[in-house]
Amino acid sequence: MRNARPERDRERDPAPDHAVTVDGRLEIASVTKSFGTHHVLRGLTLSVAPGTTTAIVGPSGSGKSTLLRLIAGFERPDAGTIGLGGRALAGDGSWVPAHQRNVGYVAQDGALFPHLSVGQNIAFGLDASTLPDGRQGVKARVAELLAMVSLDASLAERRPHQISGGQQQRVALARALAREPRLMLLDESFSALDAGLRVATRRTVAQVLNDARITTVLVTHDQAEALSFADQVAVIRDGILAQVDSPLTVYTRPADRATAEFLGDAVLLDAWVDGTVATCSLGRVRVAQPPCQGRCQLMLRPEQIRLDDTSPVRGVVLDMEYFGPETTVRLQLAVPASAANEQSDDQRKGAETISVRHWNASTTTPGADIGIRVDGEAIAFPPDVECRTAAARGATRQDPRAPFPARGDGSRPA
Ligand SMILES: Nc1ncnc2c1ncn2[C@@H]1O[C@H](COP(=O)(O)OP(=O)(O)O)[C@@H](O)[C@H]1O
Ligand SMILES: [Mg+2]
Repeated sequence: MRNARPERDRERDPAPDHAVTVDGRLEIASVTKSFGTHHVLRGLTLSVAPGTTTAIVGPSGSGKSTLLRLIAGFERPDAGTIGLGGRALAGDGSWVPAHQRNVGYVAQDGALFPHLSVGQNIAFGLDASTLPDGRQGVKARVAELLAMVSLDASLAERRPHQISGGQQQRVALARALAREPRLMLLDESFSALDAGLRVATRRTVAQVLNDARITTVLVTHDQAEALSFADQVAVIRDGILAQVDSPLTVYTRPADRATAEFLGDAVLLDAWVDGTVATCSLGRVRVAQPPCQGRCQLMLRPEQIRLDDTSPVRGVVLDMEYFGPETTVRLQLAVPASAANEQSDDQRKGAETISVRHWNASTTTPGADIGIRVDGEAIAFPPDVECRTAAARGATRQDPRAPFPARGDGSRPA
């Protein structure tokens, strides 16, 4: 959608007729914000290139809306700076009030004025004195903005409650666009819509913002939305950004286990990493740039694990769940050959239960012994990351014993 032109191209080759493109870089540096003793943002730094979209994802309460409110100018940062297009907006003694920031903001519910018509809502943002022909000019501009968000001009006469939720969100966007913002902030703007409408509305909005080359920050807790909508995904956790990367990179190369699990389903396995090969219940698996050696935790996406009866790696089907396009198959993996002999006291160690996705539900039945293979590379995480995460959640510490006997010099994992 928004990736019709790669981000780098757009940066290198800004359209000269669009001042917003060269003007709209958002720079957030070491921003902190507390409410009383609650430290919500703790030195958050983020840069959004002009005309691109960044999605901020994170669990509820992680400070996503607070960050948008700071950018919009509804709140002041305790420390750090916020700049747009080279102009300081907040911090270091600067303060530009919200109405002078040239920033559009669309909330989750659109927040339209219920007593005004759709047209009046949109016209609210317009300065009639700057438009040709006074009232006629306003009407023409409202029609133009409605067309921009793919709504019929006849809707201008209706009240917000007389149009659908998806139409309300598009009106809210049109109202925000009326001010010709350099930066658009979308705070869970599609979350209240049901699935089909959400995708369609998001697509229209993405197209409008992309065509107008408006720098955009979208806050969402929906990982699919973040991955499909944005050029860049920023994962917020504990008041800072845990990772900022392209959608492909955050999904396939998550920086840590919590990020991996936040962005999608993850299959986690005990593993022994030697160079760039891991030995685990799925046999020998290639690992992308392992940050650890020896005992590690391995992460694969469920769609990387394929049913393949010619494979020597085996599992037993526990149960299945049919979803139409795919079936989730829960498998009990076999004890890895490398560990079976040496761990007779702990036979099940490493023989995890995993869920994989398969397109054809009719090829497996519970109890069947089936072959499995891995497509692509796995990601390794140091084992202490898991312990830290578990400790942070208040869980008991994991069994620190190695899943497989150490080989070679028996050195501890890095
Ligand atoms: N004005 C405020 N006063 C006190 N606490 C606030 C205020 N705004 C947000 N918070 C708190 O800050 C934390 C982060 O809130 P928010 O940014 O809304 O999270 P998110 O949008 O990620 O769900 C929450 O614990 C919330 O209760
Ligand atoms: Mg929020």
